[in-house]
Amino acid sequence: MQTAAIILCAGEGTRMKSKKPKVAHEILGRPLVQWVVEAARSAGANPIVSIVGHGSDVVKPLVDGTIAVEQPQRLGTGDAVMCAQAALADFDGSVLVLSGDCPMISASTLEQLVSAREKEKAACAVLSMKMSNPFGYGRIVRTPAGEVERIVEQKDASDEEAAICECNSGFYCFDCKLLFDALHQVGNDNAAGEYYLTDVLAILRNAGKRVIAVLAEDSEECMGVNSRVQLSEASRAMQRRINTAHMQNGVTMMAPDMVWIGPDVKISADVELLPGVMLMGNTEIGQDCTIGPNCRLTDTIVGCGCVIDETVAIEARIDDGATCGPRAYLRPGAHLMENAKAGTHVEIKKSTIGPSSKVPHLSYIGDTVMGSGVNIGAGSITCNYDGAHKHPTTIGDNSFIGSDTMMVAPVNIGSNVVVGAGSVITKDVPDSALAVARARERIIEDWACKHAKK
Ligand code: UD1
Ligand code: CA
Repeated sequence: MQTAAIILCAGEGTRMKSKKPKVAHEILGRPLVQWVVEAARSAGANPIVSIVGHGSDVVKPLVDGTIAVEQPQRLGTGDAVMCAQAALADFDGSVLVLSGDCPMISASTLEQLVSAREKEKAACAVLSMKMSNPFGYGRIVRTPAGEVERIVEQKDASDEEAAICECNSGFYCFDCKLLFDALHQVGNDNAAGEYYLTDVLAILRNAGKRVIAVLAEDSEECMGVNSRVQLSEASRAMQRRINTAHMQNGVTMMAPDMVWIGPDVKISADVELLPGVMLMGNTEIGQDCTIGPNCRLTDTIVGCGCVIDETVAIEARIDDGATCGPRAYLRPGAHLMENAKAGTHVEIKKSTIGPSSKVPHLSYIGDTVMGSGVNIGAGSITCNYDGAHKHPTTIGDNSFIGSDTMMVAPVNIGSNVVVGAGSVITKDVPDSALAVARARERIIEDWACKHAKK
């Protein structure tokens, strides 16, 4: 049977106290709603319909690849699901209904919900959860025989019903046709004056259909985000889930609660991540690297056997055996080739540092192509910007650039060149030459005696 999904994300999220719609807030660099879209996709749902409303100009781009439908007014979860009817008019099969603010839900739980409904030939399977403090949630009301009878919302619950600990997680799988038939019968005569999606369960049951509840194995998956405090709790929970998976795959972390890894990051075995590491975006780490402490790598590809200490790298490439830091800053387009080094207080932008070349201390290298075996002396800088334009620098193999050299671009320095310390290089230097461009030292003998204070 085919599976579709409807993701509810039209709500405002008042308790976030934010100008940004709630589902646009991020966990590990990924907006809340995208976690849910990703889980639905991995569970095989197609098509996916997103119900947007509050801040839809911000939310729509985040649900790219789904069918985004506007809910004109927030009249309740039942009204929200109804907005998907036209988009699913030709669809026949199972439809998942998901909340866009519950990022922890896993694809496997959604698959279980779908297969439970199909196996039990039920019109609806609701994912339920046991809560020690159920306040605020809808409660699952069962018949004396234990069958699911209906869901009652907190505001409408009697004292007896409010004592029920089995709650509605807000995740459901319905027979699509039966869902929309039943939704037409939902009214808004309740404490909130809203059209409740939850009323559909009793409507289906009263029409002689089967309704079941599947108890969530891990209620953490149903965790919703309504406030910044819950956002941080969900971030922690996701961090634990991701880090546990990496440790199971052979990554060492002495303090996993101090390591933050985005969902799309790939890490090979025998990598050690020290405290204070953030790996974000499409970062990849090869085998046997040691990263940290205190590193932030975003969209950066790291080879094998690299040592990266206190480094920030964005859209950079670090090939096998290269070393970085402490306190290196690799900006977009920085490429350290095999066994190259970017040392202490070194900034590199849009430059290739050739194999075994070293930029060990206090340098800025920008718009540069450097060959292999080059040594850049401490404090040397490529002056790539004339105030209006950026210009390139090239440095050939095995050249030695003395400390405190300014290479004023555009400039080409050949191979096997030696540049004297303190030089300002404005002219091209041919292969194997010595270039010195600095004021000569003058010695004035006995200067101190002549100027001594009388
Ligand atoms: C809902 C359930 C409750 C369940 C709880 C689980 C109903 C009536 N109640 O309550 O049984 O225990 O979720 O978290 O469904 N939304 C829209 N448009 C609307 C209203 C809501 O898109 O008009 C979206 C919200 O943005 C949110 C989701 O639907 O993502 C749930 O709505 P919310 O108002 O938070 O429902 P709860 O009161 O939490
Ligand atoms: Ca909610």
